[in-house]
Order: sequence, then C-alpha cells, then structure tokens
Amino acid sequence: MAILVTGGLGYIGSHTAVELLSEGRDIVVIDDLSNSSALAADRIREITGKSFPFIEARLQDEETLNKLFSDYDIEAVIHFAGSKAVGESVKNPIKYYDNNIGSSLSLCRAMLKAGCKNIIFSSSATVYGSNNPSPYREDMPAGGCTNPYGETKLIIEQLLGDIVKSNPGFNATLLRYFNPIGAHPSGLIGEDPRGIPNNLLPYIAKVAVGQLPCLGVFGNDYQTPDGTGVRDYIHVVDLAKGHTAALNNMDGLKIYNLGTGKGYSVLEVLKAFEKACGKALPYEIKPRREGDLDAYWSDPGKAERELGWRAQKTLYDMCLDTWRWQKANPKGYEG
Ligand code: UFG
Repeated sequence: MAILVTGGLGYIGSHTAVELLSEGRDIVVIDDLSNSSALAADRIREITGKSFPFIEARLQDEETLNKLFSDYDIEAVIHFAGSKAVGESVKNPIKYYDNNIGSSLSLCRAMLKAGCKNIIFSSSATVYGSNNPSPYREDMPAGGCTNPYGETKLIIEQLLGDIVKSNPGFNATLLRYFNPIGAHPSGLIGEDPRGIPNNLLPYIAKVAVGQLPCLGVFGNDYQTPDGTGVRDYIHVVDLAKGHTAALNNMDGLKIYNLGTGKGYSVLEVLKAFEKACGKALPYEIKPRREGDLDAYWSDPGKAERELGWRAQKTLYDMCLDTWRWQKANPKGYEG
C-alpha cells in the first residue's frame, strides 16, 4: 500500500514526502515539473535513504493516472499539485481554473474508478476570505476570496465535500495552510520560486544572499502594532507533519487549520531573518499590495485536539532553516 503524493516535488510536497518516507510509508510521486525540479527527488532520497517511483505527468493526463492507480496499490492521495501565485491568478484566471480544478476533477475521477477512498487536500487560509475575525476557526463561513487562486481552493473543497456525500466510505481531509516558510534542516530541500519571488520569505532570502538589492515592505499603515501586515508563519516541516497526522485520522469530511496560532509582522520577520543570517538587510516601505489583508492568524486548536498535532518550531528556526537552504543553494536546485 502506498500514498500517492501529487505535486510531490514542490515546496510543501517534497517536505511531506520526506516525513512520509521517514515514517516508513511507501510513496509514489506524480509531478509535472511546471514549478519544481526533478533534482528534488534525488534530495528526498538523499535525506531519507529511501527510494520511490516518480512519474512525470500532468494530472489531466487521465490515461497515465489510471495506469498509475492500476500499477500501484494506492491507499490514500495527498493532493498538492496546483498553481499558487495569487497575482498570476488575477491576470490569467483560466490557467488557474484549468490547472487547479481541472486536475482535481481528473484525480477524483481516477480515484473513484480505482476504488481509492482517501484524499488529503492542500487548501489555504485564503478560503476564509476577508470578513472573518482572527483567529480563524474551521467553523467560520468560507468564501469571499479576493482572487481566482483562492476561489479554486474553495471550489475544490466543495467538490471534495460533495464527493464525500455521494460516496459512502470516501474520506476527505481539507488542510488549510497559513503561511508556510522555512526548509528542511538539512538544507537539501526548500522553496525554489522561479523568477522574482512573490512571497515574503523567499524575497528576504534573496536579498540576504545578494541577488536582490532591497526588500519592499508593502504598506506600513495597516491597523497592526507596527503598521505592517501580520501573518501566521508556520515551519514547512511542522506543516508536513500535519499531513502525516491527518493520514492517521481520516473519517468522512474533516477540515483543519495548520498554523501556529501566532501572528508576526513583516518587520518582525525581517528582524528574525537578520538575526539568523547575521547581517542587516535593506528594506524600503512601498505602497500596499492590492488584495492584501492587514492581519490574520489561525486557531490551530482543532488539529491539536483531533490529530494530536501542534507546530513546534519558532520563527527563528524558520528563518535559520530558510537561510541554510538559500546559502547552500543560492540559485535553487538548478543553480
Ligand atoms: N510582503 C511584503 N513584501 C514582499 C512580499 C510580501 O511586504 O515582497 C508582505 C505582504 O504584504 C504580507 C506578508 O508579507 O503582509 C506575507 O505575504 P506573502 O506574499 O508571503 O503571503 P500572503 O499572506 O500574501 O499569501 C499567502 C500565500 C497564498 C495564500 C495566502 C493565504 O502565498 O498562497 O497566504 O492566506 F493564498
């Protein structure tokens, strides 16, 4: 019996693959390499000393997918594959509806055909929209996303909820991630965005390694203690462990936040990173970024109560590990 990891060579997928293999589980990875590197597979093998099959394909390639389900005995799927750049999703919504929803439909069809009845889905705090007060709890109404990327996450959540209703014995766990940062402590795998990073940590890391001149801080006039945006940053290894905890507790439709429950501002993150890399980093206050919320963080209590999972690592750990990965791989996997 194996776990199928879609998007298993991407940032969160690769860290989850490591945790699964380390727990002694067999995995099969499918990834189209559209935003990941095949070298990540070698690194996962290097960290764990374990090997696994890797199939390079899009999920919409249903022939390959059906063959995969007949070649391997898949007990559960962890579904990471998808496009994730918020700004790009506003400019190119069709790509997002096609890649994210299209691929999830193909995957679910193949699962039902093969009789595979367990899926964990990579969802996002973005599904809480802009009207809920923090801390976000799973029983708050989802919706009101500000961009197509968020809409696709919400639609896939609904799709899985409907499949659970119509298929007795089908289990879907929706994991709503807050802001994953950090890297595996080995420095062998980490976040490797293509081009100029959209997200805060990869951007800071590239300033620290001298590839970008200066961090732009998007707004310092928010209703937060220092005026900069506040988010719930979570170490990617803690996040990965949330998936293995969820795998052991599947039962119908379940929804869990994966966050730390604590918010940090952009300037607090920058200071923590400066401490981790041992140097001051230049920054400049820029206008607010369209669509950004001022502050939000999770209530992670449900995952702790029901899954026995809780994030362990500090913001400083997250920055140290990001820095270790960035220093050792200044140009990412291909560099
Ligand atoms: N920020 C900057 N400068 C940058 C990049 C970001 O100041 O160069 C700020 C943002 O304004 C925000 C904070 O840093 O206050 C975090 O921004 P990120 O882009 O790192 O992350 P977001 O919170 O905007 O988005 C993340 C994920 C999305 C997901 C969303 C869910 O990237 O996939 O959380 O809540 F949809």
